[in-house]
Amino acid sequence: MSTPTIAISSPVRAAVLGVYRPAAPLFVAGAGRRMIDSEGNAYLDFASGIGVNALGYGDAGLSYAFRCALESGLVHTSNLFRTAPAEALARELADRSFADRVFFCNSGAEANEAAFKFARRWAGTQGGSAKHEIVALRGAFHGRLFGALAATDRPAMQQPFEPLMPGVRFIPVGDVSALEAAVSAAATAAIIAEPVQGEGGIKPLTPAFARALRAAADRSNALLIFDEVQCGLGRTGALFAYHHLGVEPDLLTLAKPLAGGLPMGATLLTERVACAVQPGDHATTFGGGPLVASVALEVVQRIGAPAFLSGVRARGAQLGDRLAALRELPAVTEVRGLGLMWGIELTVAAGPVVAAALAAGLLITSAGERVVRLLPPLTITAEEIDEGCAILRTVLS
Ligand SMILES: Cc1ncc(COP(=O)(O)O)c(C=O)c1O
Repeated sequence: MSTPTIAISSPVRAAVLGVYRPAAPLFVAGAGRRMIDSEGNAYLDFASGIGVNALGYGDAGLSYAFRCALESGLVHTSNLFRTAPAEALARELADRSFADRVFFCNSGAEANEAAFKFARRWAGTQGGSAKHEIVALRGAFHGRLFGALAATDRPAMQQPFEPLMPGVRFIPVGDVSALEAAVSAAATAAIIAEPVQGEGGIKPLTPAFARALRAAADRSNALLIFDEVQCGLGRTGALFAYHHLGVEPDLLTLAKPLAGGLPMGATLLTERVACAVQPGDHATTFGGGPLVASVALEVVQRIGAPAFLSGVRARGAQLGDRLAALRELPAVTEVRGLGLMWGIELTVAAGPVVAAALAAGLLITSAGERVVRLLPPLTITAEEIDEGCAILRTVLS
């Protein structure tokens, strides 16, 4: 089958709004764990398109799911009608998690916006409109829409767009006294946390602090939301990152890898919360369409298989070992992470390191000023981990 090619020239690029600063290569194909540029150069991928391409490139199972969904002829129906893929996917996610119900949308920020609306809707039934506050963590990233941005601890991203959604309080990670002071039965609707902060520099929550969040939510009759947009769906070696923490949330958000690179988000919730949400309270045109849901079903079933997850843990342990050895380099101060989600804290800016790795054929990203972030496809092989870590060592030396 020939691949359709699209001619690109600088006047074409000039039509794209300049909110991104893309790197120079023009990528035209992908295979396995590599992306290939227009000159035929292959780059080993330790980024997965920021945690999206969990099954790598050209995966046979994903391609089959795409083809079958396309051949059905039903890409979209609207949510005025039922479709089997959305219902099967919701069932699959609920059966594998704490949740009873699932709402589908199109991105991580949308999944968090939905979580906030559902939390406020539920809290309104408990304490009226005064019970609307969200408690979020310093260093958090929850997305760029107005509600998600209000709970994202980035003043530089927030300030040009103020006023944002009111009623968000930030507390430092691990500070139980600040948590106690911020949460109240009268005002708090929900606490939101990433089990592993991604954009904040790959920082896992401790089980003890996660238990404190759960206890504070329970004491103040508030909800606990886990944002697993980046750390969920196998990334940490468990299907959901909260499985490492020993506590369950009331709501959980997913996106990035969910539909194999197609845009999809999901908000998972318990029946207790779902009972407060009425028809018409929330909606989105494309949410849970049959094409994306069919592909997502393949992703969740593949990643959820115990053998797949034990493979992620084995490769993750190997990657952790190789990275620990990089600590001897003067540029490296700390490595941290779990599964196939790792951050390397540097004494120098991460941007030039990311650029040098790209020039050496390795795709990585930064997470903050001085942290290099590694999110390889979950299908990465032992040899590819060694290959990528050898490039990293050269670049960081
Ligand atoms: C933890 C987390 N939440 C939410 C988002 C926002 O997701 P999206 O870019 O799909 O809106 C991101 C994106 O990086 C994320 O890492």
